[in-house]
Amino acid sequence: MTPSDGIVVERVRKVFHQAGTGEAVVAIDRLDFRISRGEMVAIVGQTGCGKSTLLNLLIGLDRPSEGRVAIDGRTPYDDFHHFRGHLAAVFQQDRLLPWRTALDNVRLGLELLGYGPAEQIERARRWLDRLGLGPFVGAFPHELSGGMRQRVALARAFAIQPELLLADEAFGHLDEVTAASLRQTFVELARREGNTAVLVTHQLEEAIELGDRILVFGKPARLLADIHLERWRPAELLRLRTVIQRMIHANEPAPELAPPEEASR
Ligand SMILES: Nc1ncnc2c1ncn2[C@@H]1O[C@H](COP(=O)(O)OP(=O)(O)O)[C@@H](O)[C@H]1O
Ligand SMILES: [Mg+2]
Repeated sequence: MTPSDGIVVERVRKVFHQAGTGEAVVAIDRLDFRISRGEMVAIVGQTGCGKSTLLNLLIGLDRPSEGRVAIDGRTPYDDFHHFRGHLAAVFQQDRLLPWRTALDNVRLGLELLGYGPAEQIERARRWLDRLGLGPFVGAFPHELSGGMRQRVALARAFAIQPELLLADEAFGHLDEVTAASLRQTFVELARREGNTAVLVTHQLEEAIELGDRILVFGKPARLLADIHLERWRPAELLRLRTVIQRMIHANEPAPELAPPEEASR
């Protein structure tokens, strides 16, 4: 790996100007971090702290007001087309097409990438199967439960075998049993496939369950802590949770945790 591999977020600031009033809203203050290839990183922070804004920069849908975002040395918002097929995102809403079956929803991404029909079908079936939806390939979204629809959305994301997988509050709206099983499936599949995964959530428990590493954001987004969970003994996790909760609430770094510069080394 070269230093430019993975995700680089450098001195990023994002300011929105409200339509009408022109009033400035700082969504991202000054954000710096790096994510290496193959890492599973959870980003946690209060609602409205700029998590989705950051994801939009990573997906290339928006550009920072200042600073730079790079993925494997390329800028997503300048090089949008390069990332087709390399990047997939899952959101809170499943964003399935209601007039397409589960199979055809999963095929869509593959179709757009130019795979032939036989391979589209074979891959889509395989991924629906891996997500436990084998018997439902012919079902339409309205015939499926919320959790099942989100599984279809995950199958669609995994099927293109993206190097980078992004999830924005993708599990939080489901009931806890459904969400827990979906999170587990997600983590297992992403690990096995070797995807780099960035998971955004406002729920600390979810972040701890999903990430090998947790970036704690203040509001507006800046890095309050960069926590590598494997460096924490299980007996310390309870204290860690409390410290992170307090940090998010106080909106400032906690002296108990190594500052981001230290932790990311
Ligand atoms: N397109 C936009 N125009 C104006 N303000 C926006 C826009 N998108 C987000 N914001 C504001 O930026 C802040 C961060 O929003 P968001 O990234 O959605 O937070 P999160 O995903 O962490 O809940 C909020 O104050 C929100 O109102
Ligand atoms: Mg959001």
